[in-house]
Amino acid sequence: MLLPLLAPVVVLAQSGQNATATVNRCTTGMDSVTPLVSAKRRRPRRLSSKSPNRTLTAGSLFAGIGGFCDGFTSAGFKTLWANERDAGACDFYRTNFPQVRLIEKDIRDLSVVKDKLALVDVLHAGFPCQSFSQAGERKGFEDPRGQLFFEIIRLLKEFGDRRPAVVVLENAPFIRIGEGGAWFQTILGELQRAGYWFRDTNAHEVDLWDVTPSPQQRRRLFMIAWSTASFLSGRFALPQPPVTSKDCLSKHIAFNRTAGDAYYLPHDNRYHDMLSGVRGDRPSDKRIYQLRKYFVREKRIGVCPTLTANMGQGGHNVPFVWDKGGLRRLTEKECLSLQGFARTYRIPKHITSKRIYEYIGNSVAPPVAKFLATALEKRIRKEQI
Ligand SMILES: C[S@@+](CC[C@H](N)C(=O)[O-])C[C@H]1O[C@@H](n2cnc3c(N)ncnc32)[C@H](O)[C@@H]1O
Repeated sequence: MLLPLLAPVVVLAQSGQNATATVNRCTTGMDSVTPLVSAKRRRPRRLSSKSPNRTLTAGSLFAGIGGFCDGFTSAGFKTLWANERDAGACDFYRTNFPQVRLIEKDIRDLSVVKDKLALVDVLHAGFPCQSFSQAGERKGFEDPRGQLFFEIIRLLKEFGDRRPAVVVLENAPFIRIGEGGAWFQTILGELQRAGYWFRDTNAHEVDLWDVTPSPQQRRRLFMIAWSTASFLSGRFALPQPPVTSKDCLSKHIAFNRTAGDAYYLPHDNRYHDMLSGVRGDRPSDKRIYQLRKYFVREKRIGVCPTLTANMGQGGHNVPFVWDKGGLRRLTEKECLSLQGFARTYRIPKHITSKRIYEYIGNSVAPPVAKFLATALEKRIRKEQI
């Protein structure tokens, strides 16, 4: 049985049915369904008095450390529940979102009914991207991690007519073109069959760089699907991202101080020479050097490359800086800050440093989530039927 909902909504009849009905999602459990218009009427009527100021709600799949949740909360959404299976990520999540119901289990064991998932306006899911990333093996849906996408669809179908009005999926931009576009066609077909308006124009690439002062370049794909039960169309354009001036790197990285010993690269480390050679004789440069497999990429001053899950280790893609104490990787706090998490965001104890970097590198950047949530809220309040 589903948990209570906040307000009545109109449900557009599903395939094969023409009637439109008001579903009163009451607090006692069973929903009462009463016809709103004649069974012949095909188009749902807009409700003019749909509690305009009610708090919109969200649910989170693959919640990680809560990047999506953080951004949605800042935009005024209330997160009713979240699902994540990794114990350390759950620790992170609980530390920062003690008020949210976190269901710690494998999504394959998650059930709308058995886990009593409350109905939500928006469901967001940043599903694992390793199998869809350009840099990976590109196994797509043949990879068990890629198949987790179908768990989202399973849950949406379990919600049935009371499915979330909006679904936001996040992944690597390459998912759109991988395997000649076949991955994306699969996603498109599955979402449509689950009762959502979704086409290629509903996939939006958004870069953290464009929406906030954060100096990190981080381009991700957000696929936004609109329930046919809640909207007359899937037509939606994201607003122009606000033009922001960029923060100096030194707002996020403590170049003028020293960090703990563990962050510094020993002089006898094989990467030390490589990195020192590129830097040459510009000791005051406050820039980031990124290790690639066989060379060092010197980033433009003021630019941080995409932070990745392996940034806490010593190899490919790891960003380094020179500070007063020498050559070091970024601290966990600096990475959180570059991802756009607030300074109040806390790192729980007892999690290894390696795992902390992985969680941060895998997270959705909260300012991007906030940007999306704000745009979604506008459309939900204005156009939801
Ligand atoms: C890209 S990260 C999610 C980022 C997150 N959405 C955010 O907003 O910051 C993917 C997450 O999926 C989780 N995950 C992977 N397989 C899972 C499974 N079978 N069930 C539940 N969670 C899973 C991982 O532990 C990881 O935290």
